[in-house]
Amino acid sequence: MDGWRFLQMCRWKCSYGCFREPANDSQGESFQEVLEEALTRREFLRSVLGSALVLSAPSWLASSAAASERAGLRFVPVGLSREDRVWVPSGYLTEVVIRWGDPVEAEAPPFDPLRQSGEAQARQFGYNCDFVTFFPLPQGSRRPDQGLLWVNHEYTNPELMFFGYPQGSPTREMVDVELAAHGGSVVEVGRAAGGSWAYRRKSRFNRRITGETPCVLTGPAAGHEWLRTREDPTGTRVRGTLNNCAGGFTPWGTVLTCEENFHQYFANAGQLPDQDPRKRVHARYGIPRGPSERRWELHHARFDVSQEPNEPFRFGWVVEVDPYDPTFVPRKRTALGRFKHEGATVVVARDRRVVVYSGDDERFEYVYKFVSRDAFRPGDRAHNLGLLDAGTLYVARFYPDGSGEWLPLVFGQGPLTPENGFRSQADVLVNTRRAADLVGATKMDRPEDVEAHPHTGTVYVVCTNNTRRTADQVDPANPRPANRHGHVLELFEAGGDHTATRFRWQVFLLCGNPRDADTYFAGYPKERVSPISCPDNIVFDGSGHLWIATDGQPAALGYNDAVYVVPVAGPERGRVRQFLSGPVGCEICGPEFTPDFRTLFCAIQHPGEGGTLDRPISRWPDGTLPPRPSVVAVRHREGAVVGS
Ligand code: FEO
Ligand code: CA
Ligand code: CA
Repeated sequence: MDGWRFLQMCRWKCSYGCFREPANDSQGESFQEVLEEALTRREFLRSVLGSALVLSAPSWLASSAAASERAGLRFVPVGLSREDRVWVPSGYLTEVVIRWGDPVEAEAPPFDPLRQSGEAQARQFGYNCDFVTFFPLPQGSRRPDQGLLWVNHEYTNPELMFFGYPQGSPTREMVDVELAAHGGSVVEVGRAAGGSWAYRRKSRFNRRITGETPCVLTGPAAGHEWLRTREDPTGTRVRGTLNNCAGGFTPWGTVLTCEENFHQYFANAGQLPDQDPRKRVHARYGIPRGPSERRWELHHARFDVSQEPNEPFRFGWVVEVDPYDPTFVPRKRTALGRFKHEGATVVVARDRRVVVYSGDDERFEYVYKFVSRDAFRPGDRAHNLGLLDAGTLYVARFYPDGSGEWLPLVFGQGPLTPENGFRSQADVLVNTRRAADLVGATKMDRPEDVEAHPHTGTVYVVCTNNTRRTADQVDPANPRPANRHGHVLELFEAGGDHTATRFRWQVFLLCGNPRDADTYFAGYPKERVSPISCPDNIVFDGSGHLWIATDGQPAALGYNDAVYVVPVAGPERGRVRQFLSGPVGCEICGPEFTPDFRTLFCAIQHPGEGGTLDRPISRWPDGTLPPRPSVVAVRHREGAVVGS
């Protein structure tokens, strides 16, 4: 077995991956009973929201009350802030574990913001840290004080990296630094005497993966004609991974790092002939018709679609990496589909097949899940490393009555036929968005993290916002027009089986200022709830509480982004409390706990965004320029479980 993470996933499972049904699970109730229970809440929401329909909470939620009380959240919440610091509750401290530019690999030079180079950056910690996950050392252990951090580096803010950045005409050296600042990092971390967290400068595990690191494409679309380029006529070897946003981890000890907004690196798709079918696909994925904003195409022809029409098809995938093996070649798993993956979170189903949930983070895009063809075999790493190459990809349709359906994206089924331009399953996977359009999936308000509760299996779907949804486009699963603040749905797989093709769903949170009428916090009294907007990344703590990091509060609420915790069961279900406030201009990513839940890691991404180095709005974390995206560790001064 591969460590504490799998044990965490098994907490309520009878054996490897088998969910034990909670004693009072609502599966025992008739649908009519559930519906009747729903009426009170539904009427309440209808009065607030007009058309929104919400089903009742299953009865296991009430039965979990005692557990929730035992695991009480006792910190005094922090408030919204515009201060340029990380603010945590009284009794807690924060430490910066690693900053942009810190040396990671052997021979990496120290950070020198005035003399950056691509060569140096490729060995130093990358920019805009996003997804964070902790892998204990030694491998297979549950040690909470020593491990590997995997950290995504989503994108770059050149205006905050280079003094005097020439917008629109970067130098070759600047572009090479940016390419090297993307991707991911593996760094060994541990607690020193006194308990402080630090990264180990000379660890043999330390590794950078960048926008130039050789990767391979695997699965049904590998070698597809649209994945072939002049540099790679096989269609199986890609240079680098880009826009690695959130991710997930597998029970066999690997990380899944997700390529999200890959369109922004490419240019000139409009120069393809109108009759070229690739032009329409690039448009569906938002590849710019003219110059890119980043202008990498000035120095790297592969980012110019008029010169290399297929390079964009080699991005937008879920990428698997083994953090314990510094020689592992990252594998882009095409079976999971090509879209702007926010994350990819893994559950082992009752029959031991592997299920991966993933959101496509763009306005009016979809929620997906992948179900592997073969079953997980504990201890058989070679077998498990092939699980994400064969299976079925589904996309979600939410019905107004609180039911839902996972629609298979399988070549030859339904509209996915040659008449609609699909000649193979590889075609479906390369042009996943079009396939999902055709089967009639539900257009969501920017689906970000999608993650299953480790105790109950309930799936939480985080929709961050969608200000472009009009009143005519409202549906019960996306119930607010001009949705500035986002919402969170709960999804209950039929029979508690993550491979099921049917589910029920309900609204859990409608975020915003609780004083506003169109907010909802699972029915909890609003006067005791913290304002929250733009939920993005989530994680569960050891008591099953949901932790939420935000991205977008400065625009939506006028305050810095933050981290919140909310019980999902018991008498405090829906009571959102703010635990942390970030510095100016940042979003907050991660979040991630150690196996003992006594340390919370958060990635502080793009501090100072909205300013430039000439007009800075942040000097976090060191009071100097440039501000530096960093991973922080948060812990209680006396070693208590975080939040307790
Ligand atoms: Fe990169 Fe959807 O956040
Ligand atoms: Ca995100
Ligand atoms: Ca985000």
